[in-house]
Amino acid sequence: MIDYTEKIPNNVDLGRDRGLQRALEHWQPAYMGWWYDMGPNESHNYEVYLRTAVSVEPDGWAQFDYVKMPEYRWGVFLQPRDEKREVNFGIHKGQPAWQEVPGEYRSTLRRVIVTQGDTEPASVEQQRLLGSSCPSMYDLRNIFQVNVEEGRHLWAMVYLLHRYFGRDGREEAEALLARRSGDADNPRILGAFNEPTPDWLAFYMFTFFTDRDGKFQLCALAESGFDPLSRTCRFMLTEEAHHMFVGETGVTRIIKRTCEVMKENKLEDPAQVRAMGVIDLQTIQRYLNFHYSVTLDLYGSDVSSNAANYFTNGLKGRFRETKLEDDHVLSEAEYPVYEVIGDKIVKKNVPALTALNERLRDDYIEEIADGVARWQRVIDEAGIPFKLMLPHKGFHRAIGNFAGHHIGINGEVLTAEAWKKREYEWLPSPADEKFVQSLMTGRVVEPGKFANWIAPPLRGINSKPLDFEYVRFN
Ligand SMILES: [Fe+2]
Ligand SMILES: [Fe+2]
Repeated sequence: MIDYTEKIPNNVDLGRDRGLQRALEHWQPAYMGWWYDMGPNESHNYEVYLRTAVSVEPDGWAQFDYVKMPEYRWGVFLQPRDEKREVNFGIHKGQPAWQEVPGEYRSTLRRVIVTQGDTEPASVEQQRLLGSSCPSMYDLRNIFQVNVEEGRHLWAMVYLLHRYFGRDGREEAEALLARRSGDADNPRILGAFNEPTPDWLAFYMFTFFTDRDGKFQLCALAESGFDPLSRTCRFMLTEEAHHMFVGETGVTRIIKRTCEVMKENKLEDPAQVRAMGVIDLQTIQRYLNFHYSVTLDLYGSDVSSNAANYFTNGLKGRFRETKLEDDHVLSEAEYPVYEVIGDKIVKKNVPALTALNERLRDDYIEEIADGVARWQRVIDEAGIPFKLMLPHKGFHRAIGNFAGHHIGINGEVLTAEAWKKREYEWLPSPADEKFVQSLMTGRVVEPGKFANWIAPPLRGINSKPLDFEYVRFN
């Protein structure tokens, strides 16, 4: 169970390590300062119907209640230790999992933890203004739930930095509160986390695509030979599932509403669809293209010696590493990556060890494709002849083998001029964004009411009705 009587709730026996406890209690006010500045705008007095973890067991989510977000009990929760756990891959395979940081991997592990940790506050910053244009009280509550949990994910990484990395770790923990999403001088570390999330369609796309990158990164880190990192990530994954749910169902509900309006009014022309105050499917496709391609970059270069080292040294595994049936060392195996040669995209086999970023990206794409197929079903059930598609892997990429090339949505290699001509056929134009934002100029917060551009969800939170008062504004 988690002890909530402590200043910092935790299940890591924090009270026994006075130095660590003091260090984290010192960081806590800085974190609160960050939350007041960069957390959801104007929300500090709201009482929000939030879930709080009461234990790290699978049924530990039973606790739902009204909470003012600055009073949310952020804390440190790790999955319980498995005494028999081993390093499951790489050159240390078969050794007992490490309970302390091996000296030779110290700076690498710190970098991995900081990079993961940096994404957590970044997404809160990206989403901080969205409350003022929410489509319902239900959705407002959901974005707040995502935000407080991203805050807790930051706590999770900061705990590791403080506990295992001494002074360097403390400095990194402070820097995590100093960077700002999109800031010209001190931006967040990864590209997608410096992009704005200016509207709710972008928010749902972000939680579907980019939080799912989070899931895959956490899954790979959950395999780590460094046991505290593994146990932390395992618990974070239980929270991540809700974020992806918010994204997938959000887009589903937008598509559903658009299809209803198209059907009722026998409309197909996007301009006419827009005139009815809903988002045309073509614009939804362009948002999908943007968020998908920007998120694919997060996996890094297709061929990467860093990725090979992380794996060989037992720091970061593959997706579902222990379920895979091979030698878990990858000294012989190969894996295909793609390269642009002239005006063609060519497949090339490389040592599997160096292609681990690409492999994780491919695992991710598979899961994304299933989600997009579920969105397609909504369109098909409405009998509307429109096909959503996933762009080619090389489309609109800024990192890896496709960077610097102009790849069309179907994988055609284009000149810069040809790309420029079609850019806004494929990506949201300023006019698209302006239109989407024109639907979201105010917030809809009457219990049970939903904005015209989105269908209500199938059910409420924690079996509450749709017209439940999920947020009290005071
Ligand atoms: Fe997170
Ligand atoms: Fe998340």
